[in-house]
Amino acid sequence: MAFELMPLPYDSEALDPAISARTLGFHHGKHHKAYIDKTNAAVEGTDLAGKSLTDVIAAARGSNQGLFNNAAQSWNHGFYWNSLAPSGGSPSGHLASKIDSAFGSLDELKKKLAERGAGHFASGWVWLAEKGGQLSLEETHDGDTLADSGFNPLLTIDVWEHAYYLDYQNVRPDYLKALLDGHLNWDFAAENLERGSAWNYPG
Ligand SMILES: [Fe+2]
Repeated sequence: MAFELMPLPYDSEALDPAISARTLGFHHGKHHKAYIDKTNAAVEGTDLAGKSLTDVIAAARGSNQGLFNNAAQSWNHGFYWNSLAPSGGSPSGHLASKIDSAFGSLDELKKKLAERGAGHFASGWVWLAEKGGQLSLEETHDGDTLADSGFNPLLTIDVWEHAYYLDYQNVRPDYLKALLDGHLNWDFAAENLERGSAWNYPG
């Protein structure tokens, strides 16, 4: 079965003004859709048809860069939509104690995420991830992903210009601040932590 463009888990206006409906419309309806369509076209009629998106990513890594880029970007964007929320709340329980032991405090984690996101050269992704019970911040370049990496990704932020350029032009730090101030989905991070293995793209 072909992969589907997963619906946004909120209305396209729900993150405004941190992310405008116009940005979300292009980002989800054009960019994410194109990655899904190209992945479907590449796997149709091959041994990979019917496999999970994570299996496609793992099979294409290092052997088929075009398919890898589109499959990984399909997964990354699905994970990113879930990593954001209209009102993000704050971490609690097990996740909060893991954050405190890894970073000292939530504020310190946010500060470091802002630094890593702003400092990331060109296109890519910054991640809060878990491996062996330890939380860490990770970065991947271009379309690369943690989906098949051995890390358990908890949250991600897209730092490609298409994620923020319409709203912030080139001022990536302001986009990061707006998300960090109130739109990270800590419930999703907690679900990922408790599951203990990487999220699966639906379908
Ligand atoms: Fe993106």
